[in-house]
Amino acid sequence: MFQVEKSYKMYNGVSIPSIGYGTWKITDPQVGIRAMREAIEVGYRHLDSAQGYGNEETLGEAIRQSGIDRKELFITGKVLNSSKGYESTLQAFDQTLKNLGTDYLDLYLIHWPKTKDTLDTYRELNRQTWKAFEKLYDEGLVRAIGVSNFHKPYLEELLSDNINIKPMMDQIEIHPHYFERETIEFAKANDMLVSGYSPLMRGGQLEDPVFVKLAQKHGKTPAQVVLRWALQKGTIPLPKTVTRERMISNLDVYGFQLDQDDMAILDAQHRADGKIGSHPDHTKF
Ligand SMILES: NC(=O)c1ccc[n+]([C@@H]2O[C@H](COP(=O)([O-])OP(=O)(O)OC[C@H]3O[C@@H](n4cnc5c(N)ncnc54)[C@H](OP(=O)(O)O)[C@@H]3O)[C@@H](O)[C@H]2O)c1
Repeated sequence: MFQVEKSYKMYNGVSIPSIGYGTWKITDPQVGIRAMREAIEVGYRHLDSAQGYGNEETLGEAIRQSGIDRKELFITGKVLNSSKGYESTLQAFDQTLKNLGTDYLDLYLIHWPKTKDTLDTYRELNRQTWKAFEKLYDEGLVRAIGVSNFHKPYLEELLSDNINIKPMMDQIEIHPHYFERETIEFAKANDMLVSGYSPLMRGGQLEDPVFVKLAQKHGKTPAQVVLRWALQKGTIPLPKTVTRERMISNLDVYGFQLDQDDMAILDAQHRADGKIGSHPDHTKF
């Protein structure tokens, strides 16, 4: 069975905490500063952000108020979908650093691939974006670079498009109702780590009796069971909550183990239509 650790190393040796705090949809700055600062206070060191979430400044302020040394934090950013391309990616990155009030990122991701549905030249645009990422990496402005929502075909294309540095991470939707095995296996076979967004299925399906029963068995909450499952699948879950007690319990998932039967029950929950968010093949970004 996969050995769960509190942090993993990307293939370039950079460490990443194995649970990240999600910041999507935290739009009110007052709520956001309080929630993100509390997340840091209760122990999150890995913060998942994106320019598209419109709250980078909120996160920057929360970090300043937390008093935690920047070097103790692992901050992920993502390039805006409308900023793809070499020059516009570099500009977007610059703006992200300004918004966050920092001079480097720990991980920078292409938020979504351009796809054949959106543009004939999508593949070249993804490549140009990646070239900008390589420059930022070479200049030491980001400690690691990766992609998000790159399902296997997009990863295959990027890897075969004359790039110099392979992505270190693919961030995709992962929870018991949707586990994209092909992409995860392909990413891992190519030395990437895989992080999972919407690990709590956005909160709406946690009362499913399958999760409740396993939670009762282990004396845990359904959220803790699905987060532990994500860890034992060898992925890095990114739960979001503005609720302090949930922040604490979502992080408290290192002290118990799901057995093989539990894992098999959760694995069996996957369904083809279980994806909650957009599919990269059908986005119009
Ligand atoms: N790369 C991408 O394209 C992409 C896409 C989506 C998300 N993400 C990242 O992944 C993060 C997480 O995904 P997500 O925000 O979609 O959803 P999620 O983390 O699966 O679910 C968040 C929802 O679950 C609730 N919740 C949190 N902990 C709970 C608990 N212990 N018990 C019951 N409910 C709980 C939250 O409510 P409260 O906040 O009210 O407590 C919120 O409504 C995002 O914030 C973002 O950083 C990335």
